[in-house]
Amino acid sequence: MSQRLTRFLRLSAVGAAAALCAALTAGPALAGGGHDDGHGGHGHHVKTLGELAAQHHRYFGSATDNPEFVDQPYLDILGDQFNQLTAGNALKWYQTEPQQGVFDFGPGDQVFNFARQHHQIFRGHTLIWHNQLPDWLTSGTWTADQLRAILKNHITQEVKHYKGKIYSWDVVNEAFNDDGTYRQTMFYNILGPGYIADALRWAHKADPKAKLYINDYNIEFTGPKSNAYYTLVQQLLADHVPLDGVGFQGHLALQFGFPDLQPNLQRFADLGVDVAVSELDIRMILPADDAKLATQAQWYSDVVKACLAVRRCVGITIWDYTDKYSWIPQFFPGQGAAHPWGLNLEPKPAYFAIRDALK
Ligand code: XIL
Repeated sequence: MSQRLTRFLRLSAVGAAAALCAALTAGPALAGGGHDDGHGGHGHHVKTLGELAAQHHRYFGSATDNPEFVDQPYLDILGDQFNQLTAGNALKWYQTEPQQGVFDFGPGDQVFNFARQHHQIFRGHTLIWHNQLPDWLTSGTWTADQLRAILKNHITQEVKHYKGKIYSWDVVNEAFNDDGTYRQTMFYNILGPGYIADALRWAHKADPKAKLYINDYNIEFTGPKSNAYYTLVQQLLADHVPLDGVGFQGHLALQFGFPDLQPNLQRFADLGVDVAVSELDIRMILPADDAKLATQAQWYSDVVKACLAVRRCVGITIWDYTDKYSWIPQFFPGQGAAHPWGLNLEPKPAYFAIRDALK
């Protein structure tokens, strides 16, 4: 555990406690945060997920998105329960550099400032990804030199904007296909695989203290894609590229079975990097029923236990905490109910299972 994370976490424990006190003073509107679990009576402090995680020197965080910032009951839980936030969209390239060389950190700052006010550490997501790119970039024809300069400037400006204020960056997102071959993105096609090391070096130069991650899905289990990352991490470290961690997104689905997460996290940690579960959600084929929700709760608990069992697993981020603002139904039609809180911001069995696993 780095000193930096420990310091951040100390601040966040204080912040979460302060936020809970504020909520208690404000009245009984504590959906999800202040229910009585049998351990404390009225007015008794029920520890938040962030506070429970901090006891293990971990964070427990959530993604959030700008349209949700009008929903005060949602924000109350967001500010109260978590000691880490990720902006779900606000720091993607289409938002931060909508025209070439013109940067907009308004949406990112909105999420970042909320996190800071609530003493939550912040993960930056994401600098290089093949999705949600601005039109000027995807419609252009670029030489390798031009694209390299564009990438360098994008990374440098964005990372500098949050320099010294951010815990980590997902520098490169989803660089591999499921079969372990490099994804044929415009970056790979024009620059070759070296763009990953370049990106990490530029990001490190712009903020030497930020932890730098590569991040992907379907690497929770051992297989060709996770093996490709394993080899890449070995190579990057051997080349002294500034890589600090690997993010395991964790977009799990009940119908596909639970991954061999803990041994897989452990083998990366053993290479000498941090690991994090960076975008956890556990979807199911709808309709949800009690049996599926119970299995989901068990899986959430098992993810928490896997992280706690691996010393270098620094924390878990859920990809928004409530079904109310889930990205799943739109991207996986017929599936959903993936989050620990329900459509009315009510805690589901998964929430209680996470708490128990963190105790
Ligand atoms: C998703 C967002 O949650 C959606 O709002 C958006 O429409 C698409 O992207 N992997 C990632 C995230 O790394 O950035 C994605 O977020 C989910 C999959």
